[in-house]
This record gives sequence, C-alpha cells and structure tokens, in this order.
Amino acid sequence: MRTSKGFKNPRAQHGFQGRTCSIVGVGAYVPEKILTNAELERMVDTSDEWIVSRTGIKERRLAAENETTSDMASLAAMRAMQNANITPDQIDLIIVATLTPDMMFPSTACLVQHKIGARRSAAFDIEAACSGFIYALEIGQQFIMTRTYNTVLVIGAEKLSTIVDWTDRNTCVLFGDGAGAAILQHRPDAHGLLTACMGAEGDKAELLCMPGGGSKFPTTAETVANRLHYLRMDGKETYKNAVTAMVTAGQEALRRCEIDISQIKCIIPHQANRRIIDAVADRLGAKPEQVFINLEKYGNTSAASVAIALEEAVRTERIKQGDLVLLVVFGAGLTWAAAVIEW
Ligand code: ACO
Repeated sequence: MRTSKGFKNPRAQHGFQGRTCSIVGVGAYVPEKILTNAELERMVDTSDEWIVSRTGIKERRLAAENETTSDMASLAAMRAMQNANITPDQIDLIIVATLTPDMMFPSTACLVQHKIGARRSAAFDIEAACSGFIYALEIGQQFIMTRTYNTVLVIGAEKLSTIVDWTDRNTCVLFGDGAGAAILQHRPDAHGLLTACMGAEGDKAELLCMPGGGSKFPTTAETVANRLHYLRMDGKETYKNAVTAMVTAGQEALRRCEIDISQIKCIIPHQANRRIIDAVADRLGAKPEQVFINLEKYGNTSAASVAIALEEAVRTERIKQGDLVLLVVFGAGLTWAAAVIEW
C-alpha cells in the first residue's frame, strides 16, 4: 500500500489492508526550574566551555522535589489530548516509557490513568531507556492496526534528576527532566507511522545502568553507601555504540519505506549529545537543516527526549502536514529504534 503522496507503507501491506495509525496530537511538559551550566560549575569541577563543546547542552530542567514522573507525564498527556481534541474517556490504552517510574510498582501508567481520569483505559509501562518512546509508539501502533483499540496514549517521561549522581561530573552535566506524549488513532483520511524498527544488544547492559534497587542488589545501607542507586555510564563506549546503532536503525527504517534521506523533511534524533547527532546526520547523508535539535535547552531527558522534540517541531511548524519525519533513538540496554512518520 502507498500513501496519498506515494510513499510505501510497509505496515499496511502486512495483512492490515487500508489500516493506518496516525499521531493525532502531541503534548509536552518541562518543569519550570532551569539548571544552567554556570550553576553546575559551582557543584562539580566542570566548565560551561567543556559542557557546550563536548555535548552542546547549555541548560536542563529539574522537576520540583514533590513533582513526580507521573505528574509530568499527566501534564504532557493532557496537552496532547487537548491538541488531538479527545476526552479522557476515549482513551483505550496508556503506555508510559520511563526508567524513572514513581515507584517500582504499580506502573506509572496506572498513576497517569488516575490523574487524567481515563477510567476506561488499560495501562502499563515499558522500559527501553532512551529508546522507550519509539518502542512505545510501535507497541501502541500494533493495537490500532489490529483494531483492538481506537485510541492509544503514548508517553515518554523521566525524572532523571533523582538517579543522577550530582557529585559525578562525567554524568551529571548530561541529563534533565521532562515528558512528552502522543495520541494514536486510525484516521481514514490520514497517514502516520509508516514503519518502526527496534533493536537491542543486552551483552552491553553494563555500559549504562543503575545497579542498585532491583532484585540483583536490593536496597541496603551498603548499596546506598556504595552509590549503587545512581546512573553509571561508560561515556566513550556508549558514544561509539550510539552512533553505529542510530545510523543502522535510521537506514533500515528508510529502506523499508523505500525512502531516500533527501525526502525526509525533519530528522528528530535522541537529544543526548550534539556530537552524536552531527555524526549520525553526517553518516545518514542528511543536511544540517533537516535535523531538529533542542538539547541545548533540556539536555538528555531519556524516554522523553524525542517526544519533547517532536512536540516542539510540530508547534513551531518545522513539521507540517504531509512531511516525512524520521525519529531515531538510542539508549541503555543497549537499545535503539527508528520510525518514519508521514505527518
Ligand atoms: N567537565 C569537565 N571535564 C570532564 C567532565 C565535565 N563535566 N566530564 C568528564 N570530564 C573529563 C574526563 O574526566 C576526562 O578527563 P581526563 O582526560 O583527565 O581523564 C576528559 O574530560 C575527557 O573525557 P572523555 O570521556 O574523553 O570525554 P568525551 O569527549 O568522550 O565526552 C561524554 C564525554 C560527553 C560523556 C561523551 O562520551 C558522550 O556523550 N557519551 C555518550 C553519552 C550518552 O549519550 N549517554 C546517554 C545514552 S542514552 C540513555 O539511555 C540514558
């Protein structure tokens, strides 16, 4: 099946004749508090010059102490619902992608369901670190394509400030808090997700992890003293793997849709590091003006990252109806994913 503009929709060919899944509304929320590089200079041995030249990040947002991941997720969700012109009782399913849930259980999605009053919906979380939003989009799309559900709410939300070691200059300069949401529906007259591909490499789990608090190292005075409840990262190895995986995922998504990179209006990569984004764009053969970047304002917000960027790109009309968009992400796991959307 081809879209009205002639693009191949691989999903619609696999037994889902005529069925498409559109993103009918997006929303985002970032906390008010801004933490600048200048403020970080007073917390750890770093400099604005180092952070900007190595990452591109100038500031990031921090949630208030009493503001949880589900609070931010709910605000992003309500904005997406308003945007899509739907009411909470229309939502059939809520999927929250996060690695910083409010609690180990119940799921953050259940807490969001209550906060937004989506009484009819099912709700669950998924954890694919920074790749979570595309993983969640792909899962949500399956329910739309199989006609199981009419309306799916997909959210990426993180309060990374709670797992960042604020004494570790190698990691604390990189991350921020926030949430982004999308409403998925089948619209007979519109297209949407053309394809999504996902991958993982579990043998590299150690590169980026938080060792404490799970079944391997349940919380004890010793795990706290050993700082096992903070995010740990081998930055250099993560960097190399990020570039390779994002390029591979991006190329695969384009190949499936028989689309050349020059046809993509807007590439929205995971907002982790400016140098990673530049390297990925270069290897994909993209021009700088095709690439959407807002990491200077928010840093790496993990599962929320591309969701927040997508909302901004739509709101500022970097993406207009009919444009082709490539989302490409990478995260702990290791995980990666890419999606092509006809907006
Ligand atoms: N300020 C000043 N100096 C610093 C800082 C800092 N904030 N952090 C590290 N340094 C120092 C290091 O100690 C090192 O010093 P040394 O040479 O005396 O040992 C020096 O700077 C160079 O460090 P490198 O690790 O070589 O710096 P690099 O150029 O690799 O940049 C960075 C580090 C930014 C972390 C980079 O490796 C990177 O972006 N990696 C990928 C990170 C990432 O994207 N992670 C998120 C994945 S998504 C998810 O799932 C959460």
